[in-house]
Amino acid sequence: MSHAAPSPLSARRSGPLNGRLRVPGDKSISHRALILGALAVGETRISGLLEGEDVINTGKAMRALGAGVERTGEGEWRVCGVGVGGFREPAAVLDFGNSGTGCRLVMGAVAGCPVTATFDGDASLRKRPMRRILDPVALIGAQAVSMTDGGRLPITLAGARDPIPVVYRTPVPSAQIKSAVLLAALAAPGRSVVVEAEASRDHTERLLVHFGAEVTVEAEGAAGRRITLQGEPELAPAAVAVPADPSSAAFPMVAAAIVPGSEVILTAVMTNPLRTGLIATLREMGADIEALDRRSAGGEELADFRVRPRPLRGVDVPAARAPSMIDEYPVLAVAASFAEGTTVMRGLKELRVKESDRLAAIAAGLRANGVEVEIDGDDLVVHGKGRAPGGGTVATHMDHRIAMAFLVMGLASEQPVTVDDMSFIATSFPGFVPIMRGLKADLS
Ligand code: S3P
Repeated sequence: MSHAAPSPLSARRSGPLNGRLRVPGDKSISHRALILGALAVGETRISGLLEGEDVINTGKAMRALGAGVERTGEGEWRVCGVGVGGFREPAAVLDFGNSGTGCRLVMGAVAGCPVTATFDGDASLRKRPMRRILDPVALIGAQAVSMTDGGRLPITLAGARDPIPVVYRTPVPSAQIKSAVLLAALAAPGRSVVVEAEASRDHTERLLVHFGAEVTVEAEGAAGRRITLQGEPELAPAAVAVPADPSSAAFPMVAAAIVPGSEVILTAVMTNPLRTGLIATLREMGADIEALDRRSAGGEELADFRVRPRPLRGVDVPAARAPSMIDEYPVLAVAASFAEGTTVMRGLKELRVKESDRLAAIAAGLRANGVEVEIDGDDLVVHGKGRAPGGGTVATHMDHRIAMAFLVMGLASEQPVTVDDMSFIATSFPGFVPIMRGLKADLS
């Protein structure tokens, strides 16, 4: 899992993309299934788990904390949990590689247990803010024993001996913060409450209920939620079938929307409304995306989507939509380049603290490929001309989604687009290159 040698890759203008495919399992649900499986008493079976590096690191962390974690087949995993509050002290540093989600959620889970653990990650993760987790878990009784540079990894966290229930209002819309607090609060007696001004992805809440916790969710203001968790539940093992990740489906979806003559069907994509902002936006831009078979499985809604190209137009994407498509702006910016007219994407402050400063990385990548773009405060403005010249090399900054988005761009641009390092794609979408080649994308 080392990313020592950068591995460049180029995408060239391709003929029609055609085929039917299922992208790998949802990353958010995969992390959570492993963590909740580890906090349940007994054996949880997971199918369709995303076997990307980020999730594998979470699995290793669960093992280091005392859970049994075993792969029994492709995407099939068995987790033997130790119960809420039952983690043992890990013998070595927990290394989360590139994954903010894995690191922050496990910090939450550890914060409720009387153990001390050291959290670390790669150079990208070491730059990302962790105070957003350390602050709320301190209210529950956990303490950062050591940290670097104002709350950066490596961080040693001493979990609470007597966890205290908490009422916490998240300072930014973030499912990671919300989830870390809920996971820590599992071990506290009584009710804990997390309030968010804007609803973020709710997989933790849904899975907590699936594992038998008592969780109530109420509306808070116009767009927010108030989540109440009854502490000290005995979580019961529950089978989890992980649906296909809409954030991974986003890449072949946009590719099929911009490469002339394409027809791609993406199967079993999760359509949780807190994850589908990209589909709504692409449809507003005029994209031809048809839901073929809506169904539900494992507590989430799914659909197959048929995507065909159609001329796109620029749109105004409101800040309120950001939480439901926070990971999709790199590929939306690519779609916006191929639209006619200006697309304004508002309220993207959080993009600055993702795997890279995505606001800067998107703008630099577009400019390198001849697309006119501005950053205006927290807004990204792309001046679409219905085409992209291409011909540039994109600095990916250890960011899987920057790499995939610009490879998608190259499939429809006039000159090839090169990314300086495709190796981080394996963190979230192993098989991206062969899957895209299977659709006849020209990647080499
Ligand atoms: C995630 C939440 C989002 C998202 C990340 C996955 C999660 O981060 O960017 O890829 O699984 O909870 P924030 O909650 O920090 O916005």
